[in-house]
Amino acid sequence: MKKPIGIFDSGVGGLTVYKTIRAYFPEEDLIYFGDTARVPYGPKSPNTIVEYSTQNARFLLQQGIKILVVACNTSSAYALDYLKNLTGIPIIGVIEPGAQMAAQKTRNNRIGIIGTEGTIRSEAYTKAIRKLIPEAMVFSQACPLFVPIVEEGWQNDPVAEQIARHYLDYFRDKDIDTLVLGCTHYPLLSAVIQKVLGPKVTLVDSAESIAEYLKQLLPSDSDGRQGLDSFYVSDNEGKFAQISNRILEHELSFLKRVRLFESWFTD
Ligand code: DGL
Repeated sequence: MKKPIGIFDSGVGGLTVYKTIRAYFPEEDLIYFGDTARVPYGPKSPNTIVEYSTQNARFLLQQGIKILVVACNTSSAYALDYLKNLTGIPIIGVIEPGAQMAAQKTRNNRIGIIGTEGTIRSEAYTKAIRKLIPEAMVFSQACPLFVPIVEEGWQNDPVAEQIARHYLDYFRDKDIDTLVLGCTHYPLLSAVIQKVLGPKVTLVDSAESIAEYLKQLLPSDSDGRQGLDSFYVSDNEGKFAQISNRILEHELSFLKRVRLFESWFTD
């Protein structure tokens, strides 16, 4: 029997990663967990992020997954090493694949990173890029308001562009040729980000690099069956369904709320 791939995020934003994985692997079963009760992780302390991420991972491990994808950049930045101690199955975060893609794309070794306050504070992307290109110049900027803009569905509203101009002005004199979208929500703002930065800057979406990375791990054994999707959240499944319909452009076939501290917070 095929085992599923587990994906977790602090909330709904990781659906951008789910969507790409689904497109790459139509026959894989996917289980997604969004910690909608405790989102956002971006402003939280490292200890809290590790604690929440561990609980999320435990829930997915209980579902018998074969690979765990940590779609949340903030969790990937702080919790990946802790999660690797929980289990022997492969665990993939978004930072390394994103850094690898940025290193491949840059021509002038001047790379920008945008993410949550936590991700930027961790310097995880900067360190991962410098491992690949020691002489790289990496410029980082936290863009916390991008998350609620996407949650409100305001990607195409003038307010999105106004806020993007405000944050991205930091890069104006940095001469970057590559920008890592270091947060699950930001690919949904790529049109406005590209407009503000201009066509010369290549945007890197970690979802694509994760899917490429997974390809190397997964044997291509086709049984011809369409993969199943299961979505779990820790709160407010109605809002999750609403936003996910916008992101995925279809309704979710299976969505269930998991009650914290009852079924899944067990050692
Ligand atoms: N999923 C988070 C990330 O990619 C963004 C939302 C949050 O702050 O929890 O960093």
